[in-house]
Amino acid sequence: MEETMKVGMRKHRKVSHICLLVLTLLQLTAPSSEHLQSHSKPAENTTTSAPNPVALSYRTRPADVTVAVGKPAVFRCGVPKASTNLTFTFYGNHRNYSLTCPSGYVEDIPQALYGSCDMKKDELLAVWTLKGTSFSDNGTRVVCQHSENPDAPAAVLHVYDDGTSYAILIGCTIGGFFGILLVFGLSYTMLLRSETLQKCFRGKEPEDMNTIVTKE
Ligand SMILES: *[C@@H]1O[C@H](CO)[C@@H](O)[C@H](O)[C@H]1NC(C)=O
Ligand SMILES: *[C@@H]1O[C@H](CO)[C@@H](O)[C@H](O)[C@H]1NC(C)=O
Ligand SMILES: *[C@@H]1O[C@H](CO)[C@@H](O)[C@H](O)[C@H]1NC(C)=O
Ligand SMILES: *[C@@H]1O[C@H](CO)[C@@H](O)[C@H](O)[C@H]1NC(C)=O
Repeated sequence: MEETMKVGMRKHRKVSHICLLVLTLLQLTAPSSEHLQSHSKPAENTTTSAPNPVALSYRTRPADVTVAVGKPAVFRCGVPKASTNLTFTFYGNHRNYSLTCPSGYVEDIPQALYGSCDMKKDELLAVWTLKGTSFSDNGTRVVCQHSENPDAPAAVLHVYDDGTSYAILIGCTIGGFFGILLVFGLSYTMLLRSETLQKCFRGKEPEDMNTIVTKE
């Protein structure tokens, strides 16, 4: 019985150690996820670029995009509908691609990249869509050029690590925590049961009792 008490106390200490560890890990990782969230906000702000009074001919100016790796990225550049020769150039790390609207023809475009011309109610939009970003797309630039305008607005793509590793770490820690709780709960039940058994079969099978208690 003394053996059982010691085992129980050691378990208790282990559990509180693990609690502390989990809490520390959660506190360490919480600020970084907040930081990442604030980082990803500009991605939602790409479509809302207001017309610039200085360069009236651009209805939509391309905006910098910040996305997590693997997420799609979209760049838009728009001019009034009646315009022609809107050129939206994609300066990738491996190759450059030029999209000219309204014809929308792009030569030899890779599958992950998609260039299109959109006819809105009162706007001609050139759109570059990167279906899934990779780290090699980090720093990609787009430049919009409207034939009659010397102003050529540009935007840059920022790709960051979305902290999947943090999520996995938290998942494993919490999973492990509950897993350990379950194991302790089960072994505690086993110990209780073995005590009941001990009462039932007192003196009958002392060797079996020893093996159960010291199995830990
Ligand atoms: C988009 O970003 C600009 C500045 O970067 C800001 O002035 C504007 O309010 C933002 N729009 C929205 C809808 O968040
Ligand atoms: C548009 O491009 C075509 C062919 O490159 C050219 O002939 C035409 O003059 C251009 N239009 C304007 C308005 O620049
Ligand atoms: C893309 O264009 C830029 C500017 O014209 C040039 O410096 C660069 O070498 C080009 N990249 C490729 C891969 O052709
Ligand atoms: C992306 O590029 C910026 C600067 O060009 C750099 O600071 C950042 O570390 C790069 N991110 C990744 C994930 O490579």
